[in-house]
Amino acid sequence: MPVPILIKNARCVSSQGIVQQDVLLVDGKISKTGQIDARQADQIIDASHLYLLPGALDPQVHFRDPGLTWKEDLRTGSMAAAAGGVTSFFDMPNTKPSTITIEAMQDRKQNASEKCVVNYNFFIGATSENIDVLNNVKNVAGIKIFMGSSTGDLLVSDPRELEEIFANGSRLIAVHAEDDDIINAAKEIYKNSTDFNDHQFVRPPEAALKATTLAVELSIKYQRRLHILHLTTQDEVRYLEIQKSKAPISAEVCPQHILLSAPFIYEKLGAYAQMNPPIRDMQHGEALWQGLVDGVIDCIATDHAPHTHEEKANPFGKAPAGMPGVETSLPLMLDRANRGMCKLEDVVKWMCEKPVELYKVKNKGHILEGYDADLVLVDMQQQKTIENGKLFTKVNWSPYDGWKTTGWPVTTIVNGHIVFQDGGIDEGVKGQEILIA
Ligand code: DOR
Repeated sequence: MPVPILIKNARCVSSQGIVQQDVLLVDGKISKTGQIDARQADQIIDASHLYLLPGALDPQVHFRDPGLTWKEDLRTGSMAAAAGGVTSFFDMPNTKPSTITIEAMQDRKQNASEKCVVNYNFFIGATSENIDVLNNVKNVAGIKIFMGSSTGDLLVSDPRELEEIFANGSRLIAVHAEDDDIINAAKEIYKNSTDFNDHQFVRPPEAALKATTLAVELSIKYQRRLHILHLTTQDEVRYLEIQKSKAPISAEVCPQHILLSAPFIYEKLGAYAQMNPPIRDMQHGEALWQGLVDGVIDCIATDHAPHTHEEKANPFGKAPAGMPGVETSLPLMLDRANRGMCKLEDVVKWMCEKPVELYKVKNKGHILEGYDADLVLVDMQQQKTIENGKLFTKVNWSPYDGWKTTGWPVTTIVNGHIVFQDGGIDEGVKGQEILIA
């Protein structure tokens, strides 16, 4: 059991506003808020110059464990999360073997319980043959469907097979929405290209819109809970604005699709800028930000998908797609709040409250009595430069290398234990399986 911790005078942030108060943590829970006598705690943190946020939940990461652990593993990925103020994550099924059976899911959870310094849960991957598993596996974030091929071999692109999954069961379905036929036709056109900027044309906006449209139509037909992962186009935002209310549909965006844009980022970073769905031009990025501000897009995820320098050194067409992000997403959003582009309250809504609400996570996402003591103290004045070689992610690079941002997590608390402080991780802290209602 953790020792009782009293956080004194913190500016506690929720989507509804900011309240300066004390917060007492006992036995891994928030036991009291308000004005609290210091004698009730064994450890006191003076937070009068800091903001206290609920720990962020990153609802889409690839921590590569098992099978691809030279890129990342549950230990390093969760350490990167802790350093970034992310106290909970949902990990994707494109591991080796893929997470598509009840046994594979049990193995991942067992592995996570030994290695993770933050809280965890996983998506079960859909294939054309595992519908029983999708509906019977216990306590998972949801079902992940790759409608277009990406890293790994998970793919369900046949509309009839997709319809069968939507028609049977009630668990949340999260889709990687890109149309595989459009991608394959475009790949043929660009097969001799050596220009990384063509990545955005190999996976064009039409591919994203077509797959999103199909998923939304199926969700409406069966009133099935649908979450659209990493939205990348203006077209999808416009489409969702009209369609979203017809069924229980939500959507997310990644910081990189807002903050990075083509063609500049491909000229600067080459393969390191490649991810699926791709970074597109600025017009799309601006529409995504507006979609988030307007509430058409509900939350932020990172799609943290590390690949090594050696892998990224391959030529266009051979280099894998994906970039790290779990360690930098909250700082990048805090920087945006500091620049007046949004409020701190919005950041908490998009990164803490909404993911918890959408995925029906129990007892997290708010600084309220009885909730889990997953918290992050943030110094909104602290300036730091994101630097390759100084990160916790195993690949140790970031597409934001060299970016100087203001507003950083200084202390991260998981289940009442301080896991990240003064730049270091306490590896003795262990995360827990996240419970889904
Ligand atoms: O760019 C991507 N990389 N997108 C995905 O959907 C998968 C991910 C990965 O696992 O590398």
